[in-house]
Amino acid sequence: MYFGKIFRLVLFEAFVHGYANPGSCSGACIVHDPTLIQRSSDNRYFRFSTGNKISYASASSIKGPWTTIGSMLPSGSSIDLAGKDDLWAPDVHFINGLYHVYYSVSTFGSQNSALGLATSATMESGSWTDRGRTGIASSSTSAYNAIDGNLLKAGDTYYMNFGSFWHDIYQAPMSSDATKVASSSYNLVYDSSGTHAVEGAYMYQYGNYYYLFFSAGICCGYDTSRPASGAEYKIKVCRSTSPTSGFVDKMGTACTSGGGTVVLESHGTVYGPGGQGVYTDPSLGPVLYYHYVDTTVGYSDGQKLFGWNQINFSSGWPVV
Ligand SMILES: *[C@@H]1O[C@H](CO)[C@@H](O)[C@H](O)[C@H]1NC(C)=O
Repeated sequence: MYFGKIFRLVLFEAFVHGYANPGSCSGACIVHDPTLIQRSSDNRYFRFSTGNKISYASASSIKGPWTTIGSMLPSGSSIDLAGKDDLWAPDVHFINGLYHVYYSVSTFGSQNSALGLATSATMESGSWTDRGRTGIASSSTSAYNAIDGNLLKAGDTYYMNFGSFWHDIYQAPMSSDATKVASSSYNLVYDSSGTHAVEGAYMYQYGNYYYLFFSAGICCGYDTSRPASGAEYKIKVCRSTSPTSGFVDKMGTACTSGGGTVVLESHGTVYGPGGQGVYTDPSLGPVLYYHYVDTTVGYSDGQKLFGWNQINFSSGWPVV
């Protein structure tokens, strides 16, 4: 009886929290807010991440071994705002023969923020040109916070998804070369509850839908103060047939009204996954990559690890 009960509980847990463990990572695996691409010339993987004027590393496989290259912009950003020597939340794309990395200039808890851009033909160390401001910026009077940019091409149009807290996720159409904002922004995701801890958008087209992934909850500082269980970082998703509006979750709740279906949350020894993106890997298919705390390693922000999982879209909603 007792064992039967445990068995049913285990099955129930597996159904409710049936997340695969992160794929393996070797070499330089400590990251915050990763973004991933393969270089077209040799298929080498490049991974950019928050801090150190955008840290980056490369590897022959998504599993590693990852080799640290250094800072993308060793002199910091030309955008004259506090945080220009730190730089957050990169987002990499290959556009017109150049690797484009969008980055955020900001400081924790401040709305004085801007999205910048750096480009390179090769992604080699020292090859980056800082292109400065994209025109997406915010100050204390803005509705949003201009951080965590994520570019999407839909049809012939580029869009920048961005934002966090202060009314959460926004989107703005970009110029045809994806370097500058083209028109004003509008809200895609808003959760009015608590501190509106919603950020790190990543939009991905699959089948007939645009899937808008985002991170929700308390991201950081777990070693000094761990939030109530469930209030820590997790990855949610909404979808729409349009890239610009109408995002709902699995229950049909509008994502401008607190909607969002959980894709990945704390489970086993994985705690607070977030800062995610999606990469279409030539052999693995769509991959959700993110950072997380491995509770067997430690809760400090400086020990967050690179995680990745193949995504199964067979139900119409991403499952990892
Ligand atoms: C994807 O999920 C479905 C259930 O929704 C399952 O039947 C199928 O085997 C899964 N595919 C893979 C490749 O795991």
